[in-house]
Amino acid sequence: MNLLRVDKISKTFIQGENHINVFNKLSFELEKGKTASVIGQSGSGKSTLLSLLAGLDRPNEGQIVFSGKPFSTMDEDELTGLRNGKIGIIFQQFHLISHLTVLENVYLPLEIQGSGVDKNIAKEFLERVGLSCRLDHLPAQLSGGEKQRVAIARALIIKPDLLLADEPSGSLDNKTGESIIELIFNLAKEEQTGLVLVTHNRNLAILCDDVWRLTNKGLAKETPC
Ligand SMILES: Nc1ncnc2c1ncn2[C@@H]1O[C@H](COP(=O)(O)OP(=O)(O)OP(=O)(O)O)[C@@H](O)[C@H]1O
Ligand SMILES: [Mg+2]
Repeated sequence: MNLLRVDKISKTFIQGENHINVFNKLSFELEKGKTASVIGQSGSGKSTLLSLLAGLDRPNEGQIVFSGKPFSTMDEDELTGLRNGKIGIIFQQFHLISHLTVLENVYLPLEIQGSGVDKNIAKEFLERVGLSCRLDHLPAQLSGGEKQRVAIARALIIKPDLLLADEPSGSLDNKTGESIIELIFNLAKEEQTGLVLVTHNRNLAILCDDVWRLTNKGLAKETPC
């Protein structure tokens, strides 16, 4: 069974008289533990696609099936539960909770799961992203790249079945970016996590098992050259 099956999904935003058709009838599949990248120009709909895959928004048509279960059969609570347990998301804009410290942001998903919070696990993940010395900082006291690394630790801590990463190295310098990407790939491999990676960086994209290009004609698989 596929971890993720996306079947002819379309998304149109309606703003007053304006209909913004972002994409039509996109389909793809991701097997457990496999990695796929999504590349495409700014505005092509990459972040919109990720928000649909995270169940944060619903497609206008088509369906998304996660571990055999269509999102359309799940209510909001069930989808929230998925995001706190099985689907980790690294948002392009980080979405950290501003009044929580770095450490609290990272262990929040475990707290919501109610699985007994071991702060040491959060500290370990923060160490892996190189932020051990920022545990008590608030997000506003961090640089862009540090915020990004907190967001990465928070997404990885739940050991998700599916990791959705929107430009996870976008705010990082080359060296930090490379080590963070290596961490994401290593953890994905260790934990058999499926990864959908949105990136503008071709060198990064081709590290994935499949490379998908999103254009106004749809989603096309690129053949390796
Ligand atoms: N909530 C919304 N309401 C209306 N239009 C939206 C909304 N969200 C996104 N869009 C539009 O949908 C299109 C795709 O946006 P999206 O953020 O998915 O692009 P992207 O491929 O992630 O771009 P980037 O590479 O710049 O991050 C854009 O034209 C955007 O203006
Ligand atoms: Mg985007």
